[in-house]
Amino acid sequence: MNNHYECIEASITGKLGLINLNRPKVLNAINRQMVSDILSVMEDFDENDQVRVIVLCGNGRAFAAGADIDEMAADDAIDFELRNQFKDWDRLARIKKPIIGAVQGFALGGGFELALCCDLLLAADDAEFGFPEVNLGVMPGAGGTQRLTKLVGKTKAMEWLFTGKRIGALDALQFGIINRIVAKEVLMEETLKFAGEVANQAPLSIRLIKESVLKAVDVSLDEGMQFERKNFYLLFSTEDQKEGMSAFQEKRKANFKGK
Ligand code: HXC
Repeated sequence: MNNHYECIEASITGKLGLINLNRPKVLNAINRQMVSDILSVMEDFDENDQVRVIVLCGNGRAFAAGADIDEMAADDAIDFELRNQFKDWDRLARIKKPIIGAVQGFALGGGFELALCCDLLLAADDAEFGFPEVNLGVMPGAGGTQRLTKLVGKTKAMEWLFTGKRIGALDALQFGIINRIVAKEVLMEETLKFAGEVANQAPLSIRLIKESVLKAVDVSLDEGMQFERKNFYLLFSTEDQKEGMSAFQEKRKANFKGK
């Protein structure tokens, strides 16, 4: 793994692949290099047998305070089109392993969109989520209007997107945006513990559960049921299914290998 990235830090600890956003002076504002770094590492982790769960976190006062305004201020529509601005974000949606985000401080604009790309989110009690793009005369472009609406429904999504107002960790928990709130001092410790629990589950189950749940967000119930069924069948061709069920019958702990 290449360990030298401009805008992030990456490492592997046990079964966890860790990514730290690392532009603290600008509250981890997301420039194009950062998105490219994130995807390069995530795709490495996705192919690395040692890594079972990916953990994404901020650094300093923020998870990320949005796309880098200085970088995009002079862009015009055709710059975005020719650059295919969101191609790396599309790759992010295709990562197969679970991504757990740890949010401290600001998760705004593109930072909130990045958080919404995680499968599970823990937030510190000081976390603040929001889409302030409306204050800049623009709007979210990396899935904010879509993912937030699918998650919390039209009513709150419209309110938060129209006003740009920031919502705290408690509201985020109540609306199902995050899984847990923890004290800021123990955010990483708790996130790694949570990620460790997921990392010890049967990896192929986790992989196909992720795929099936994400499918549910987009398709009709009937189509989703057919999709789920095929993944259910598929798991019966794995060694881990034999191991999991034998372990149950033999009253011992299963040793899953991801095969
Ligand atoms: C570039 C940013 C930045 C950003 C903060 N900074 N957010 N630089 N892009 N998104 C920089 C500031 O310019 C400042 O640099 C330093 O980080 C610290 O920020 P301050 O503003 O001094 O801190 P504070 O007063 O605590 O205010 C924090 C804040 C504010 C409320 C988060 O920084 C803010 O409103 N940031 C912009 C948030 C935003 O609008 N995000 C949406 C961006 S558009 P200096 O050099 O002065 O110290 C977007 C579109 C997504 O995300 C499209 C798809 C990806």
